[in-house]
Amino acid sequence: MSGSALYETFARAPLAFDHGEGTWLVTDKGERYLDFAGGIAVNSLGHGHPHLVAALTEQAAKLWHVSNLYEIPGQSRLGERLADATFADKVFFTNSGAEALECAIKTARRYHFVKGHPERFRVITFEGAFHGRTLATIAAGGQYKYLEGFGPKVEGFDQVGFDDIDAAEKAITPETAAILIEPVQGEGGIRPVPTQSLKRLRQLCDQHGLLLIYDEVQCGIGRTGKLFAHEWSGVAPDIMAIAKGIGGGFPMGACLATDEAAVGMTAGVHGTTFGGNPLAMAVGNAVLDVVLEEGFLEDVQRKALLMKQGLAAIADEFPDVIEDIRGTGLMLGLKCAMPNTKVNMALRDQHLLAVPAGDNVIRLLPPLTVTDAEIHEALNRIRAGAKGLADAIAVAAAK
Ligand SMILES: Cc1ncc(COP(=O)(O)O)c(C=O)c1O
Repeated sequence: MSGSALYETFARAPLAFDHGEGTWLVTDKGERYLDFAGGIAVNSLGHGHPHLVAALTEQAAKLWHVSNLYEIPGQSRLGERLADATFADKVFFTNSGAEALECAIKTARRYHFVKGHPERFRVITFEGAFHGRTLATIAAGGQYKYLEGFGPKVEGFDQVGFDDIDAAEKAITPETAAILIEPVQGEGGIRPVPTQSLKRLRQLCDQHGLLLIYDEVQCGIGRTGKLFAHEWSGVAPDIMAIAKGIGGGFPMGACLATDEAAVGMTAGVHGTTFGGNPLAMAVGNAVLDVVLEEGFLEDVQRKALLMKQGLAAIADEFPDVIEDIRGTGLMLGLKCAMPNTKVNMALRDQHLLAVPAGDNVIRLLPPLTVTDAEIHEALNRIRAGAKGLADAIAVAAAK
């Protein structure tokens, strides 16, 4: 027992931050850390972005919460803006990514229900996926470590290998409702799904009357240099879950759908107390103001290239530490040649924050507002961390 009153569910680093400034976090002891963890892809515009702070404080002085019993103008506005910017016609706001996924899965099941096919409720998912920690989303993710001990797995999810589209085709039965996929797997180890595979999934869905659901909770909102990662492939879904970056640190998510896919989501069939409340909507609109500004996403792409090239050079120099660089935009992964936890510790010793992921990867998810100078500084620190680990390997080998 740690003596803490908190659930022991998190293995927390012994760091407590007092405040943040852009890409920097400052501990309660005044030590500065370069934040390339970004709250796990949440702090899309860094810490204390003036436009977000103004939006939140202005709204806080006016109105916090009214519930979805009433019109919420900021919600209608954000919904329209998301619909205008994407494939979607309809939006449902939630508090988190997992709730956005729950809404996405329910939307797909209801679609088939109202079309006279209540037997079509199963969803095909992919190995390495992460869709959240609710009972349905751990079943969708299919990872034993998250399912163990929580009773019977929620029925209706069929998992196939990562990027195994042939297996996905074989898994389709008369009970299949949808295919659910992250266009870039985040927790699974920064694994982008090839464009060709998304195209084939779209074809399979059209051929079999299934709905294609994207989980862009981690890879959405400019993270890959497009507003949504799937735009690189040109393959649109029917339903999409988003969260993280849209709130820039304020907890919120959303489920987006076409009119057709959302046909079953009629009055009273789904709901939320907090989802879409005025505070969250003020921040969500403010995030979009910045991300949709002319040239913003192009600049993310430019900075991403700078960072990826720098990382590739470090991987070339220290192959015993970093095997490969993966990912797109500012969603980059270091595939480690040694345990990723060791690499993460070495980076933290350099006062650079990153996030471990599956497949022995370290994720780098800086704010989209990161500067060129901060990228160079991060590369210097990653190089120093990698050199320290490589030197230690050399010393151990010489003994
Ligand atoms: C791709 C993806 N989907 C869903 C979730 C769940 O989001 P939340 O933790 O907000 O429930 C996450 C969280 O890491 C995620 O990365």
